[in-house]
This record gives sequence, C-alpha cells and structure tokens, in this order.
Amino acid sequence: MKIMGIESSCDETAAAVVENGNKILSNVVVSQIDIHAAYGGVIPEIAARSHIEAIQPVIDKALSDASLTIENIDAIAVTHTPGLIGSLLVGTLAARTIAVINNIPFYPTHHLKSHIYANWLSGHQPEFPLISAVISGGHTQLIYMNRHDDFEIIGTTRDDAIGECFDKVAKILGLPYPGGPAISKAAESGNPNRYKLPIPKVDKLDFSFSGLKTAVLRSIQKELSLPITTPSHKLQELLTAQQVADFAASFQATAIKILIQKLKKANESYPAKSILLAGGVSANRALRDELQKTFSKTHQVYFPEPGLSTDNGAMVASAAYYSIQAGEKPTNPYELDISPRSTIH
Ligand code: KG4
Ligand code: ZN
Repeated sequence: MKIMGIESSCDETAAAVVENGNKILSNVVVSQIDIHAAYGGVIPEIAARSHIEAIQPVIDKALSDASLTIENIDAIAVTHTPGLIGSLLVGTLAARTIAVINNIPFYPTHHLKSHIYANWLSGHQPEFPLISAVISGGHTQLIYMNRHDDFEIIGTTRDDAIGECFDKVAKILGLPYPGGPAISKAAESGNPNRYKLPIPKVDKLDFSFSGLKTAVLRSIQKELSLPITTPSHKLQELLTAQQVADFAASFQATAIKILIQKLKKANESYPAKSILLAGGVSANRALRDELQKTFSKTHQVYFPEPGLSTDNGAMVASAAYYSIQAGEKPTNPYELDISPRSTIH
C-alpha cells in the first residue's frame, strides 16, 4: 500500500510516499528556517504564505522522486492537528483537493502520532508496550502505547515545551534560530558541570521548562555580576565564546537529566519493552547517547533516523498506514475538522 503523507503544521512544507508504513519511496521537505531565522522564531502569517508557494512543487517532487503518478497512490494522509491554523489550512486543502479529484481515500492524521511513527520508518518494529517521549518545539509528552494506534498520555508539560526551551535559551545566549541544533553544537566545546541549574520539582510524570529558561538567564546575570533587570541582548555582548559554550552544555545536560529522570519514573508505573524518542528534540545527539546509556541494557531503544526527527511527510504516511491496519476508515474530505490544538487519541 502506497500512502502519500503531507505535512504543513509549522514551518516545513513536506510530502512523501511511503510503502507499507516503513519503506520510504520519496521524502521531500522544504524548510522555511532561513526565512524565520531573521525574526528569531516562526511568524505564522509568513509560514502560511510560504506553504502556499511550496506545497504544489513539493507534492509533485514527492511523486516524481518515487517515479510514480497520482494514480499509483492508495491513500492520502495529511496533518490536520495540532499546529498553526494558517499553515494547517494549506496542507489540508491541498490534500483534500487531490483526494477529491482523484477519488483517493483520505486520512487526516494527528501530528504527534506521526512523530512517534517516524520510528517505524527505518524498517524497525518497536515492541509493545512502549513509552514514547514526544519532544518538539510545541510539545513535551510521555505517551504509553500497548498496541498500534492506542495512545495514553501519561505525562505532559505544564508550561513551555522542551524544544521551545532550547529555542528560548539559545536566544538568550545569542545563538541562531532554531535553538536546538545551535545549543547542541555550542555544547560540544562546553563544560556541562560549570553552571548548576535546578531540576524543577513537578509531581507525577509532568514537566515544567519555563523555570529552567529563567534559571539560565539568572545564572548568566550572576556570572556577569549584573542586576536581574539586565536584558538578554546586553548579556550576549558580554559573554565570551567559552561562557556561551558552557551555558549551552550546562543547560542541555540539565534538560536531558529532567527527561531521563521522568522516563525512568514512567517505566516504573508503566513497564515498557521499548523506549522511543520522537519530535525535533530527538535529533539531539547528547540526549540519544544518554538514553542508550540508561536504557539499552533493559529495553529496546529507538529514535528516528537522521532527518526524520523534525517535521516530514514520511512520518505522516507511516502513522496513517498503521491506523488503517488498526481499522481506521477514511474521512470524507468535505467534512474535515482542523484544529490548532488537540490531544492525541
Ligand atoms: O518536531 P519539530 O520539527 O516541530 C514541532 O512539531 O515543534 O521540532 C522543532 C524543535 C525546535 O524547538 C528545535 O529547536 C528542536 O526541535 N530541535 C532540537 C534539535 N534539532 C531540532 N533540539 C535539540 N537538539 C537538536 N539537535
Ligand atoms: Zn513536529
């Protein structure tokens, strides 16, 4: 079964064709990072306009890269929630139009579910039950799965998402957008033990990241012996490259510690055979290493292949495939519901 997956929930316009949930026939991603970098973050209106320009060529290329035509496609899957509403509108409208004109079964797909299914794209079949940490720019959730297409949210953030925290700390340090890769790179030459940052005390399996971002800011002000009213752009000018690297490394190590601690705790209440990472932050090399170190003796450990952690169409197609296998019926493209926020179910 060949499924076309279309993704436009944030700042990547993407389309892919995937066979039987795990064989990527094509995967085209046009990133708007360069456009948004000038503003230090995603501007929703610009994102939506850029999707309009890119969507048709991206879909055409996904078909031509796979040496297929639309007649060869058995199902169309598209991200319909959650995300930026203007961005979601572009991808869903394109997908609905293609589905209606060509009479192709249509499957709206939840974005977080797609991130989790990026782990099936490398040909692996993670064993259930599993715990997946969905860690991206917009989300931080621990999700327990007993079988395909069955999701229980067992932990979530009470404020900022972990990726948002990487992005905000990068901004404070004067590193470019998106902050995750920039922090990760700067941390390579930094000392993770130089600055002590607090681990927030949040009960259950929940997270809080807004305090960590503020703790970094306060720690920089203290390091430079400046009052807490000093704005971050003033601090950046005064930090040496080594201090930036040390702050990046100390922050990254703390964020990783928080996540690993919660995953260990989650596994006590929800014993799992596999531990998965999903979402943009799962690209983080230090996090992957720490996860392996902590769980590889007792669990199967998975993270997406390079390039499949961040938003792409292949993960959308894979998620839809396993939903179809689990019995999901196609949606009428005329009756699609799109929503900026929603929980996985
Ligand atoms: O999944 P994604 O592409 O979009 C959302 O659904 O949010 O995730 C983007 C997020 C950004 O916050 C970015 O800074 C973060 O993923 N990210 C990383 C890395 N690469 C991307 N965070 C930490 N380390 C990385 N290497
Ligand atoms: Zn995403």
